[in-house]
Amino acid sequence: MKRACVIGWPVEHSRSPLIHRYWLKQYGIDGAYEKEAVSPKELAQFLGSLKQRGYVGCNVTLPHKEAALQAAEVAEEAARVIGAANTLWLDDSGRLNAGNTDAYGFITNLDAAAPSWNEEVRPVMVLGAGGAARAIVHGLLAEGAGRIVLANRTRGRADALAGAFGPSVTAVDWQKRGSALAGCGLLVNATSLGMTGKDALDLDLAELPPDAVVADIVYSPLETELLAAARARGNRTVDGLGMLLYQAVPGFERWFGVRPEVSPGLRDHIAASLGEG
Ligand code: ATR
Repeated sequence: MKRACVIGWPVEHSRSPLIHRYWLKQYGIDGAYEKEAVSPKELAQFLGSLKQRGYVGCNVTLPHKEAALQAAEVAEEAARVIGAANTLWLDDSGRLNAGNTDAYGFITNLDAAAPSWNEEVRPVMVLGAGGAARAIVHGLLAEGAGRIVLANRTRGRADALAGAFGPSVTAVDWQKRGSALAGCGLLVNATSLGMTGKDALDLDLAELPPDAVVADIVYSPLETELLAAARARGNRTVDGLGMLLYQAVPGFERWFGVRPEVSPGLRDHIAASLGEG
């Protein structure tokens, strides 16, 4: 039996077991997916003994994503560019490989939910400058986004992120996040604002073109205030649950040998676990 897990500290909140167990059952695979609470102190030892523990690989969540990349012997380009790993697997020679599927998950979901998002190659506004924003910027550039504008509360982090990706990515002050929406074809919230229990995202959408797409990485609630406001004024919206589901696809395929489908049934199953559905 093949076994995989998610490691985090804490790990209790992770939705990954629900997703992977759903697929294991759907495809009739003799496999298992566990939760492993691993502290930062234990991480290196845990990853070094993955095989002895009976695992073929794992997902990595906070706070281990950067350290997991460091611990891997082989890293895919996306993980190197993003500077963090969320998916690990042992290859045929027993080497620990690292990937980052967040950019893949974001872009695949965006393409599925709003295929026309880049038809006119208009500027994209990304809110945030953390790990999620970095993955999204990488994914957008790889998909042909022309210009990306970053707005982040801490301006220095936005400048640093823009600097890492070259001249097509620029930063504006957080206070300018509303006015800078003029002419944008896509707006992405890559901050934690709007999540249940966090501060609201205070953003005036008046300048955003009516045919722009609005995407949120927050999936709890499923329809954030940002998405509700965007929908009310006629913008097409893309919620964060799709990214969560699609980012799990490459890992499942690596570990269990089947490329799984992101189906409405899976979506309903995970939405129900969030108290929505
Ligand atoms: P992740 O790796 O998930 O992106 P992170 O690195 O903690 O997590 O980033 C969270 C993002 O949400 C950051 O862009 C953060 O802004 P700062 O860089 O200024 O910290 C943003 N964020 C969190 N709380 C915020 C708030 N109250 N107002 C504005 N931005 C906030």
